[in-house]
Amino acid sequence: MSTPVRWGIIGPGNIARKFAEDLELADGAVLQAVSSRDAKRAKAFGKDFGAVSTYGSYEALVKDPEVDIVYIATPHVFHYPHAMLCLQHGKAVLCEKPFGMNAAEVEAMLTEAKARDVFIMEAFWTRFIPGIQKMLDLIQADTIGEIEYLRADFGFIGETDPKKRVYNKALGGGSLLDVGIYPVYLALLLMGAPEKIEASALFSSTGVDTHCAMLFNYAKGQKSILESSVIANTPTEALIFGTKGMLKLHHSFHHTQKITLELYGKQPESIEVKYKGNGYYHEIVEAMECLRSGKKESAALPQRMSLDLIKTLDRVRQEVGLVYAQDQ
Ligand SMILES: NC(=O)c1ccc[n+]([C@@H]2O[C@H](COP(=O)([O-])OP(=O)(O)OC[C@H]3O[C@@H](n4cnc5c(N)ncnc54)[C@H](OP(=O)(O)O)[C@@H]3O)[C@@H](O)[C@H]2O)c1
Repeated sequence: MSTPVRWGIIGPGNIARKFAEDLELADGAVLQAVSSRDAKRAKAFGKDFGAVSTYGSYEALVKDPEVDIVYIATPHVFHYPHAMLCLQHGKAVLCEKPFGMNAAEVEAMLTEAKARDVFIMEAFWTRFIPGIQKMLDLIQADTIGEIEYLRADFGFIGETDPKKRVYNKALGGGSLLDVGIYPVYLALLLMGAPEKIEASALFSSTGVDTHCAMLFNYAKGQKSILESSVIANTPTEALIFGTKGMLKLHHSFHHTQKITLELYGKQPESIEVKYKGNGYYHEIVEAMECLRSGKKESAALPQRMSLDLIKTLDRVRQEVGLVYAQDQ
């Protein structure tokens, strides 16, 4: 058995549950502690997943000396304060996406982690999905030639109750930060930061973007055509067009298990690439390997990338006029 890594979870909600299921699959992962604003919720979650300790406050969890790393699974607006709380108590951090509400928050988190010499990584599971690695390998091997453009979308019909996360501006709601972040990340991964961004959005009466259309223009003339939505179940696919052929990342592209490779003039080839558990297993393993080897950041998902990602989201928000309280 590998050296144990003792995890704490802050915010035992929807995603934390899927994450905890995958934690059970990772060799050496121990669910040491769970914390909720409500002690009963922490206890119930802890019972379901066999947590060693449960707490009725996040502050209590970060004071637990038995916790090595904290997974932050609260709504977007709390990522920054909760990451700072963990770092200031010397805890390593795996924080859900978006890493922060804007670049200023992410920069402050990274500065704090560096000053304290503590590991921090955005829980951007897409980077560690085997299908995404396969896509990168195919592109690296020049299979489809030079990339000319990318088309990617992520849309679902979100819960309209303004008390819930998606339509609640005070919780950082809206399509861009919730799901638009995935096509934007894919564009960055494939083509780097765009030179020019054009974007347009629809807004709800609660002030969040319900749909966001983006066009990224690159210095070499390439394009990314991206879309996010919380009002429509869009295909949630990615199509990467190169000079020799194209790759299609099938639904849901950000954790795809099926790729079609079509070289122009040839029969398309279907490639299956499975992931383990709910797909979060792979980011969990990456974080644990970093901790075991004393690394302070992941080489596959460097902090620079998370910073570029939030800076690009800031640029899109500026284009569409989407401002949150954290920007003031
Ligand atoms: N990687 C992925 O695939 C993925 C998927 C879904 C979501 N996410 C990300 O994960 C984060 C959480 O999403 P979720 O859907 O799991 O959220 P959620 O279930 O609505 O909330 C998560 C937990 O946050 C805690 N919380 C703390 N303060 C809160 C407040 N003022 N209002 C509501 N909840 C509060 C609650 O736990 P207690 O009250 O019990 O402490 C709640 O159960 C989001 O930032 C989202 O972007 C990632």
